[in-house]
Amino acid sequence: MLQRIFCIRIFCSLIGVRQGTNQIVMNCADIDIITASFAPEGGEEINATGFNYQNEDEKVTLSFPSALQKGLGTLKIDFVGELNDKMKGFYRSKYATPSGEIRYAAVTQFEATDARRAFPCWDEPAIKATFDITLIVPKDRVALSNMNVIDRKPYPEDDSLVEVKFATTPIMSTYLVAIVIGEYDFVEGQTSDGVTVRVYTPVGKAEQGKFALEVATKTLPFYKDYFSVPYPLPKIDLIAIADFAAGAMENWGLVTYRETALLIDPKNSCASSRQWVALVVGHELAHQWFGNLVTMEWWTHLWLNEGFASWIEYLCVDHCFPEYDIWTQFVSADYTRALDLDALDNSHPIEVNVGHPSEVDEIFDAISYSKGASVIRMLHNYIGDEDFRKGMNAYLLKFQHKNASTEDLWDCLEQASGKPIAAVMNSWTKQMGFPIIVVDQEQVWWFPLRHSRINVCMIGEDCPSWMIPISICTSEDPSCSKIKVLLDQPESAVTIPNLGPDKWVKINPGTIGFYRIQYSSAMLESLLPGIRDLTLLPVDRLGLQNDLFSLSRAGMISTVEVLKLMEAFENEPNYTVWSDLSCNLGVLSSLLSYTDFHEEIQEFIRNLFTPIGLKLGWDSKPGEGHLDALLRGLVLGKLGKAGHKATLDEARRRFKQHVEGKQILPADLRSPVYLTVLKHGDSSTLDTMLKLHKQADMQEEKNRIERVLGAISAPELIQRVLTFALSDEVRPQDTVSVIGGVAGSSKQGRKAAWKFVKDNWEELHNRYQGGFLISRLIKLTVDGFAIDKMAAEVKSFFESHHAPAAERTVQQCCENILLNAAWLKRDAEDIHQYLVQRKVPPV
Ligand code: BES
Ligand code: ZN
Repeated sequence: MLQRIFCIRIFCSLIGVRQGTNQIVMNCADIDIITASFAPEGGEEINATGFNYQNEDEKVTLSFPSALQKGLGTLKIDFVGELNDKMKGFYRSKYATPSGEIRYAAVTQFEATDARRAFPCWDEPAIKATFDITLIVPKDRVALSNMNVIDRKPYPEDDSLVEVKFATTPIMSTYLVAIVIGEYDFVEGQTSDGVTVRVYTPVGKAEQGKFALEVATKTLPFYKDYFSVPYPLPKIDLIAIADFAAGAMENWGLVTYRETALLIDPKNSCASSRQWVALVVGHELAHQWFGNLVTMEWWTHLWLNEGFASWIEYLCVDHCFPEYDIWTQFVSADYTRALDLDALDNSHPIEVNVGHPSEVDEIFDAISYSKGASVIRMLHNYIGDEDFRKGMNAYLLKFQHKNASTEDLWDCLEQASGKPIAAVMNSWTKQMGFPIIVVDQEQVWWFPLRHSRINVCMIGEDCPSWMIPISICTSEDPSCSKIKVLLDQPESAVTIPNLGPDKWVKINPGTIGFYRIQYSSAMLESLLPGIRDLTLLPVDRLGLQNDLFSLSRAGMISTVEVLKLMEAFENEPNYTVWSDLSCNLGVLSSLLSYTDFHEEIQEFIRNLFTPIGLKLGWDSKPGEGHLDALLRGLVLGKLGKAGHKATLDEARRRFKQHVEGKQILPADLRSPVYLTVLKHGDSSTLDTMLKLHKQADMQEEKNRIERVLGAISAPELIQRVLTFALSDEVRPQDTVSVIGGVAGSSKQGRKAAWKFVKDNWEELHNRYQGGFLISRLIKLTVDGFAIDKMAAEVKSFFESHHAPAAERTVQQCCENILLNAAWLKRDAEDIHQYLVQRKVPPV
């Protein structure tokens, strides 16, 4: 049994005292200091006589009886702390041995501001130090840290323990320090340039680490080559942690992951898990350079870390798995998500001032990640790969082992490209929002798009302005930009030479620029055949649909126009295009659940998805690949959920065979089948699913089930799912997706989930200690309401139940609720009419 209390002695060598003082102030939280002393170089040790904790500020002041003189010295602190259950700082993570015995591992998660919970320190990214770590641990446990082990010997005072000493780290920030102690197996490989890579898995599951190992050993040389800077440590470990709040954490040399972001079982993992593992590995390994070697100056520049890693993870996956067509998926997963959030009045600029830890937690959001990644993608496209790499290399070399700001990166890229990078990029990172480009045959102009407020403002007023890289292609060559301009005026005319009649013109080919486009009706009309005959590229078909959907939400076009456009996708073969469209239809379906014609939109969905469903069938065909597997799962799930009779029957048949052990469902069919049978199921279906959950050995399977449980319809069964969410059966980080699944499934589910969150607020808030999971929970639960009074209710609840790290999320949710309600009021009647009249066969 791992002891709950940890005792640590730290020595901070060569602390510089700049000015005579008898106080030292450090970050410190949930720690009891026993003794502290300061020994000046060559002088007498002085014991501290007072420890004054400022809990609110997460600081401690050590007082000394006499002044510490200017110069260097060693600060020595003995202290104790407790391994907590909050998934932050130094915490314990529960796991079961293969024989079912419950044990605990000790794990760290320090980003953003929780190293101070494991040891007193100066816990800021720009205060870098080297770390010499020694652990005294049970001798049968694996003990890991950032660096390789340089000594391991029996602990003299207790022969059940060993003392493990790790090599000195490079100079680094506290948030990247890591320790893991537990029982693990591993698989090992070497990169082409001799770095040892290990993937640590739960005991008995080493095989499940092989996929990530393959990705990591390919990725490290890829980045080395891309940055022209080698990975600086001799080893890197990737380890799966049972209880883990984030998806993964880039600790230098010891990257920690949720089990589902690292482990792949060839038989039981689905295509989307494989893709997720590849992306997460690509993301965290990028941080080893971008973040760890060069670190942001302060959390204001967090976006630089996260936005960059969220962009380059795609580059890396595209390199390792070109068959994933991952860049098209970027547009659906990151780009459109960022545009949606950034269209709110309660969005925020990419670069944002932050102070208190709760403000820092708050910016791990889609603006830092997805908008950050999207503007870097736009920048990369504007600069070109060659100069971009040149600039990146200069930046990494200039600031390695140091800290840097957004401006520092712009300087290096400006030097490398000769283009006005800072001027262009400041307009995207220092102000929130984005422009809408309005285009007609003669000219192009822009104004800021807000979902809640449509106003055209002129330069000179208090109006945001952007420098906008614009490219244009035509049907003569849909994959090539015919014209590239930098638009820095709100109005501009662009001449397209030699454009033949009946040719279409498309702005923003590749869907790269971070803006929305509104075409004149004539131009839009001319683009529609390009959707039907697939001459527009998939990424542009997707972008066009998504832009129109967003414009309808903003009230700039009628939602009926979007429904008509969606029908043009009947022959669509592309997974990602379907996925994005399906997601938007899901939003619409959820909105229309607040009307009395919800069934009509289900019928629309069934009609739209039936042809592709028939074409794909249930069983994979020889020669099919990754994207076919994803598409089949998507389409069957959509049809099943919308109540398509044949799909429901077949799902039930296959589910029965699966449960009886006669024919195990292939991993890629499980989510859609589970979802379908639950949606139309009863208490025995729920019992069966919960039994499958209990029996599941892989966390991936447990999560798969947890995410769809909320689809169950009967109110008393919804309650059972909610209770289950907080039970011991669900890992603490996964409770959020169970409750979110309930809220996202139906109007009744949303109401019940919100009540459940309110009733259990204390436990939930306490469980996540205000971290980013609480924001996620709130958003998943309330974002889909579409009644004005719910915005007021949500607002008032959080006025009396403070969630400092979720303040902005609460505001965004309230804004979304009001927008949903306004959307309904505006368009419901027209949508209804359209849905009814399209059922009438033409005479
Ligand atoms: N640095 C983050 C981990 C993190 C997130 C720490 C939030 C503290 C708060 C890590 O690099 C990361 O971004 N992880 C992502 C996964 C990634 C593939 C987008 C995550 O945890 O969601
Ligand atoms: Zn990251």
